[in-house]
Amino acid sequence: MTDVGESPGSASRHLVILPTGEDVAKYVARLLADAIRVQPAVCLGLATGGSMVPVYRRLVGLIRSKRLDTSFVTTFNLDEYVGLPGHHPQSYHAYMRQHLFEPGGFSASRTHIPDGMAEDLPAACEAYDADIRQAGGIELQLLGLGPNGHIGFNEPGTAAEALTHVVDLTQETRRANARFFRTGDTPVPHRAITMGLGTIMEARRIVVVVTGRAKAAILAHVLTGEPSSRYPATILRRHGHVLWCVDRSAASNLPPLEAHCTPSPP
Ligand code: GLP
Repeated sequence: MTDVGESPGSASRHLVILPTGEDVAKYVARLLADAIRVQPAVCLGLATGGSMVPVYRRLVGLIRSKRLDTSFVTTFNLDEYVGLPGHHPQSYHAYMRQHLFEPGGFSASRTHIPDGMAEDLPAACEAYDADIRQAGGIELQLLGLGPNGHIGFNEPGTAAEALTHVVDLTQETRRANARFFRTGDTPVPHRAITMGLGTIMEARRIVVVVTGRAKAAILAHVLTGEPSSRYPATILRRHGHVLWCVDRSAASNLPPLEAHCTPSPP
């Protein structure tokens, strides 16, 4: 484990590089399972995307093998497409039900995902932030990293203080997510609701999962390049409690870490 804090020595911003994506999934699933075990009514912020599928598969395995009670866990997902009903197979509602909520025994009344079908989208966004506050805030937020440096669906240029809002997805993001829309006739939606960078930064702890060689360049930029709103994930370098969990492929463009970071104990 390596400290990647802006000020070397602040032991709360860490990078852990594991051999494979499966090792990352196992590590992060254990973190999540521990958070639930220690605090059964924990409030988790959850993400979707390909990187999270093995994380949730492992987490469901741990929930079952360790008989963890998830019925008091509250969850808030990062984002949802605008215009896809919850039963649409490519909606994040369906993804979460399939990969985690149903097999993991989560209470439907405590799981929250932005409503991309709301008639009044801005009001739905405001209500989402209010619900997070009402739940006491997010204890542990899980994040993936988009190929253009987005987190949630906060595309390049998003204001640092943005709360939950409606976004126009970039062509790059729509292209990257098109692989999930191959079957069926629905094109990748043009808009989504996402927790804002401000919402995400309010989480008390953040765990970012980055796997695969395709993320190597953007990860190197986000961790070692100039922080800027062109790369929304660089805002995480201002957060005091972030753990980057990456595999060797994703880490392959990082400069020698000793030059930038101070090793610290796990
Ligand atoms: C989507 C999601 C993000 C996710 C990103 C990376 O755009 N909205 O929350 O982090 O994809 O996904 P993947 O893990 O599939 O690369």
